[in-house]
Amino acid sequence: MRRAAIGGVLMSLGLLSVAQADWIDDANARIEQHRKAPLTVTVVDAAGNAVPATINVRQTASAFRWGSAVNSNFYMTGGTGTNATQYRAKIAQLFNQATLENGHKWRQWEMTGDRNRSIATIDALLAQGKTIRGHTMVWQRPENLPDDVNVALSAGNVTAAVDRTMNHIAAIGSANAGRVSEWDVVNEQWAHNGITSAAHPGVPIEQAPLLAQWFNAARVADPSATLYINDYGILASNNSTNTSHQQSLFDTVSYLKSQNAPIGGIGLQSHFGSANARTSGPNLITILDRFASLGVELQVTEFDMYGSGWTPQSQADYIREFMTAVFSHPAVVGFNIWGFWDGQHFAGSAPLFDANWNLKPSGAAWMDLVFEQWRTNIYGLHGSDGAFDLRAFLGEYEIDIIAGDVTRTIPLSLGVNGTGMTVVVPEPAATIALPIGALLLGRRFRTSAVSRSRQIR
Ligand code: G3I
Repeated sequence: MRRAAIGGVLMSLGLLSVAQADWIDDANARIEQHRKAPLTVTVVDAAGNAVPATINVRQTASAFRWGSAVNSNFYMTGGTGTNATQYRAKIAQLFNQATLENGHKWRQWEMTGDRNRSIATIDALLAQGKTIRGHTMVWQRPENLPDDVNVALSAGNVTAAVDRTMNHIAAIGSANAGRVSEWDVVNEQWAHNGITSAAHPGVPIEQAPLLAQWFNAARVADPSATLYINDYGILASNNSTNTSHQQSLFDTVSYLKSQNAPIGGIGLQSHFGSANARTSGPNLITILDRFASLGVELQVTEFDMYGSGWTPQSQADYIREFMTAVFSHPAVVGFNIWGFWDGQHFAGSAPLFDANWNLKPSGAAWMDLVFEQWRTNIYGLHGSDGAFDLRAFLGEYEIDIIAGDVTRTIPLSLGVNGTGMTVVVPEPAATIALPIGALLLGRRFRTSAVSRSRQIR
């Protein structure tokens, strides 16, 4: 891939160590292995004979989740000026997943105006086909707790505070069931654990039984969402692979698993609040391997780069290194940025666009990886025997088949097991998409596929 070529050039110039070049080659090999699958197209005539054909392969969506935080207040009340119009348009164009920056948080959810804007924003995002991350059910940071919960905790009324958490999880979970695909049930337990510590004095914060109760309550409220714990400082670790924060999150997930709590994922926020917070690609892989060993999916949930030490170019270089590492890791299912435009970013430093909607170098790197390097788009591929055998990135496709004077465009979904499609031409063409394994059964199966396609015509 292009990255490997760049690695080779930099190495020959003495700018990249052998170890770094090896790391990039290994990452690209994993991307090839885990993010692609066989895509087979066979073009035949009504008698099942091969027909020379030309195809275009156009990827319309990625199976990997590319998301951003969305500010539901700005989304709904930003008006019709350039900024709000651009904001909504970029969300529609660039992402297949979204997280409300604040709109699902406990305080906001209990304010009617904020909640209504959250619901309306989710309606709009769902209409665009996006998946939604729910963020977050319980964040024990006092500024993010309702006033009465803080009052109860201050008064030593732990039962009242705990009851409020259980009722809130039931309420927000059931209200969003079927609308969010996952929930951050708990956010930042390492730094903010006032409720669990009050409920279980003397118990390590990683082993508070209330954590398991929260996950169980979330599962009852929403039977299908993947339930996450979310935390910062795990990948943005100043290049360290063994911090006490990392250990604490590891121990917390281990505890939840030991209690059979329904945890399905770990959210790795990835706020790089200074250039010093950077962790190298190889060390990112070490950390990801460690958390993947817990048997849950991983997701980068809040990536951004702000604070001291950054230049536009170092941000571009780092987002490329970081994205390559996480996209190459088979346990990672998504990469979410915490806002995309400086005009709506909590630190005024989003990865993609500056305040005037100019694409930043880091934004150009993101665009190149998401829409060019990690998508499959091939035009004018000719097969004199009507047989096409590709490896393509997982996701949704439209395939144009041009055989003689017949042109058909057919949708195709490419999953991890691969997909094969037999197309019958020239009369009104019909198709059927089958798992790649089925096609490997050979001509007998292809013949039946053709006859089935006739039936459904
Ligand atoms: O809603 C009130 C509004 O009524 C009031 O007029 C206004 C006055 O300042 O404040 C509004 O609340 C603000 C809220 O965002 C909504 O805009 C809070 O002051 C402000 O502190 C809050 O900041 C958010 C912060 O989380 C705390 O909830 C940021 O926008 C948001 O980007 C940030 O996101 C967090 C993730 O949830 C967890 N990981 C870290 C990340 C960055 O801190």
